[in-house]
Amino acid sequence: MPPGDARPTASGTAHVAPIQAALLDDPLAFLSAEHARQAVLLAHLERVAREPQARAARSLAVALLRWLTCELPLHIADEERSLYPRLAAFDETGLLEALRAEHRHDRRLIADIAAGLRRVAGGRAPEPGFAEAAREFAAGHRRHLIREETALTPLARRCLAPNSMATLAAEMSARRRR
Ligand SMILES: [Fe+2]
Ligand SMILES: [Fe+2]
Repeated sequence: MPPGDARPTASGTAHVAPIQAALLDDPLAFLSAEHARQAVLLAHLERVAREPQARAARSLAVALLRWLTCELPLHIADEERSLYPRLAAFDETGLLEALRAEHRHDRRLIADIAAGLRRVAGGRAPEPGFAEAAREFAAGHRRHLIREETALTPLARRCLAPNSMATLAAEMSARRRR
């Protein structure tokens, strides 16, 4: 199954393939692979928002909760604590502060979305406002992914020295062993 492919398994639970840890040898490739996976998960979130009573919605809600509450915070920590600080001296356009502001906006929406997903995962209808928050998050995070892929990743490829890249990889790896 390719990274990010989520589909109900025989047991009825949605499986979202994790990104291969070996990709951490190239931490920027790892983050880009996570971005591709996040784009798939955003489409699943929109699907659950559209049809919260659909048969696959409960297992998708479980997978989306794991992403939003466990995996995405790690990804954001990789960026805010490990990657962005190493690029600060090279950022001439305010890109990093704009990306941090988008993370803060995402965090506020995620609190509401997670509450709705917990209800869907438990077989109940989400609160009013869930679908709108999910759509706003999906649209905003999709723009964020495009900005990181088209501006942040090229900046990092240009500016990070090999020793910075190695330290970045070590920090991201340590974050996943905790
Ligand atoms: Fe990212
Ligand atoms: Fe980000």
